[in-house]
Amino acid sequence: MTTDAKILSALRSNPDGVSGADLAEQLAISRAAIWARMDDLRKAGYEIEATPHSGYRLVNEPDALIADDLIARLHSPKPPKIIGRDIRVFEETTSTNDVIEKLARDGVMEGAVVFAESQTKGRGRLGRQWSSPTRQGLWFSILLRPKLSPQETTQLTVASATALRRAIKTVAGLSAEIKWPNDLLLGGKKVVGILTEMSAEVDRVRHVILGIGVDVNQTEFPPELRAIATSLKAEAGEEICRAELAVEILRELDFDYARIGAGPFAAVADEWEAGCATIGRNVSVQMGSRLIRGRAEALDDDGALLVRTEHGHLERVIGGDVTLEK
Ligand code: BTN
Repeated sequence: MTTDAKILSALRSNPDGVSGADLAEQLAISRAAIWARMDDLRKAGYEIEATPHSGYRLVNEPDALIADDLIARLHSPKPPKIIGRDIRVFEETTSTNDVIEKLARDGVMEGAVVFAESQTKGRGRLGRQWSSPTRQGLWFSILLRPKLSPQETTQLTVASATALRRAIKTVAGLSAEIKWPNDLLLGGKKVVGILTEMSAEVDRVRHVILGIGVDVNQTEFPPELRAIATSLKAEAGEEICRAELAVEILRELDFDYARIGAGPFAAVADEWEAGCATIGRNVSVQMGSRLIRGRAEALDDDGALLVRTEHGHLERVIGGDVTLEK
């Protein structure tokens, strides 16, 4: 952890204030150095009160994603196993998936996360654009190097949906529905999208990039999205703290990633099915030029969707665009 992350962590653990002398001792730096760090944190938007009686006290925090702050939050009470060991925040990027792709090629360790406050070329599944307005959502990507075969990577997509669902329940109190493979819906409208990109050989995955977009505090959507997209704020009726949500998501993803690595996928698949709006519904799936219609029956061991067609065949769906029929 950096010094700033340690200071923020100490301030949060001492809501009534902590003295400069105590901080200096804990961090093994001078009181003058503490004073200088406080000054920089204030410039970054943290409101930190300093009184002779109670020392430094954190009064207010900026609505900004700050790497040191995310690291400090994520490490309390215990550090992540893999996801979030390295966190970087950009004010603007083309797409956070592009940034992670470069890091992957440079050999950066798995678990690295890149957030952007806005993306100029945010992209969605099936070549669609992804709207990423400044500071209104969470736009981020995660680098993974899983020990899975290419076919098994659908498990990651499915597991990320369960992790995001739990995080949204904890922070915003909302119960989202999962739409296969990993959209999250509130009131039938999309609130989370996940773009999984992979670099692989025939039987070996080099790396996987999980690109996640969460609509958090938007109150307005572009006309073409109004009928199909919503935000957590619109559904919860109050502003959501993006940093708190970001950290809860990383924590839950770290948990599910360990769950997949440790054992059978069944535990994740059961949780996914319990929160899923797709199983048991009539669906149509557009896979390239092919349209499949039928009833979604279950997930298989690799996270693929099993659809019983009108003709009684069981189709195994690993990609494509799923529409829930009325
Ligand atoms: C979808 O539902 O179509 C997937 C949307 C994924 C959007 C996220 S935002 C962060 C990351 N960077 C991108 O360019 N896309 C993903």
